[in-house]
Amino acid sequence: MEPAEGSDKREERVALLVILLLASLSLSSLLLVFSYYCYLSNKVSKRFKPHKRVNYEDKECSSIANIQVATDKGLQVFTYKQLHSATGGFGKSNVIGHGGFGLVYRGVLQDGRKVAVKLMDRAGRQGEEEFDVEVELLSRLSSPYLLALVGYCSEIKHKILVYEFMANGGLQEHLYPISVMTLLIDGACFKTAGSSASASKLDWETRLRIALEAAKGLEYLHEHVSPPVIHRDFKSSNILLDKSFHAKVSDFGLAKLGSDKAGGHVSTRVLGTQGYVAPEYALTGHLTTKSDVYSYGVVLLELLTGRVPVDMKRPPGEGVLVSWALPQLTDRDKVVEIMDPALEGQYSMKEVIQVAAIAAMCVQPEADYRPLMADVVQSLVPLVKHHRATSKVGSCSSFHATQSPKA
Ligand SMILES: Nc1ncnc2c1ncn2[C@@H]1O[C@H](COP(=O)(O)OP(=O)(O)OP(=O)(O)O)[C@@H](O)[C@H]1O
Ligand SMILES: [Mg+2]
Repeated sequence: MEPAEGSDKREERVALLVILLLASLSLSSLLLVFSYYCYLSNKVSKRFKPHKRVNYEDKECSSIANIQVATDKGLQVFTYKQLHSATGGFGKSNVIGHGGFGLVYRGVLQDGRKVAVKLMDRAGRQGEEEFDVEVELLSRLSSPYLLALVGYCSEIKHKILVYEFMANGGLQEHLYPISVMTLLIDGACFKTAGSSASASKLDWETRLRIALEAAKGLEYLHEHVSPPVIHRDFKSSNILLDKSFHAKVSDFGLAKLGSDKAGGHVSTRVLGTQGYVAPEYALTGHLTTKSDVYSYGVVLLELLTGRVPVDMKRPPGEGVLVSWALPQLTDRDKVVEIMDPALEGQYSMKEVIQVAAIAAMCVQPEADYRPLMADVVQSLVPLVKHHRATSKVGSCSSFHATQSPKA
């Protein structure tokens, strides 16, 4: 009987082996199917998500992809090498500016297009987030009053943004010209390519037009996009001027999607630039499109007065532009006193009173009292048209076309 028992055990062992073999075979085929599924879904999601998503603090309005004016312009993706050669090896002689993101270079693409190349020099999450928001938003928004993003380079070590070139640079450079603009890079001090030692101040007609075009840029973000986009860093250096001094709004790195609910707000970390941040946003972190309206009011004051928003070197009471100007804006007799002396002889009293009234409403401490950007645009359109018409009568130049102050 012993040999029969032995053969039974052998059969049992073989059966066990077969079962184990079958189980491991089905497990590995399951794993194979699962990994193929992962591979496929990853491929599909990559095709529909060209850029990394940004983690916003506010999940409900987190997806820029939800913007309903989505145009998805198909931005050009550049290699570092291409941009290196477009900017002459990121040469110092091609530097045209320096901001919070890094250095800005003048460049020429292979097809001959002039561009501005912004090279991120800031390591860390904040810089990367700003890069992502800028790319995501500008690939979807389209307006003649917003600076166009041509493309970008997103290699591990290099984050670079490529914009259309604006020959006259930032508005602030023309309001308070710096005699010799120098930058300290790699220990060397040199003049930037875009600056001019004799930068002339803008005339009244050009300032009015810039005010209108910048207002149209914000109006587009607030009212033609759903959900609205809040710029959050609207300031004179983010209004760029082309060769004919037409204005475009730039720099969306800090932008946020606003609330769709009437009177709604989003809560967020307070970011922005000193002198431009609305008081309620600075105090509570509650952000609405009215925060941009406040910043717009500050820019309007810069255009009227030729002064920087905060200058503590000025006499007591004059350091903060809004606090100094606001009480005089609605006073017919005093409003002329705050005007940029460089504008003398170019504006009429009627125009100044109207622009000052718009500025006064925009910088109201109470957000609800501030106008919508559409209202600002509507108020400025007739002023710009009227000024253009009157400055043509009897004069071919808008400079000194009118006597100041004129009733
Ligand atoms: N597309 C462009 N065309 C021409 N010049 C530009 C362009 N973009 C930026 N510049 C120049 O580079 C300067 C710096 O711009 P950048 O946006 O980096 O900094 P900023 O606006 O001064 O500060 P922030 O980083 O807070 O926005 C501008 O003032 C302008 O002179
Ligand atoms: Mg800027």
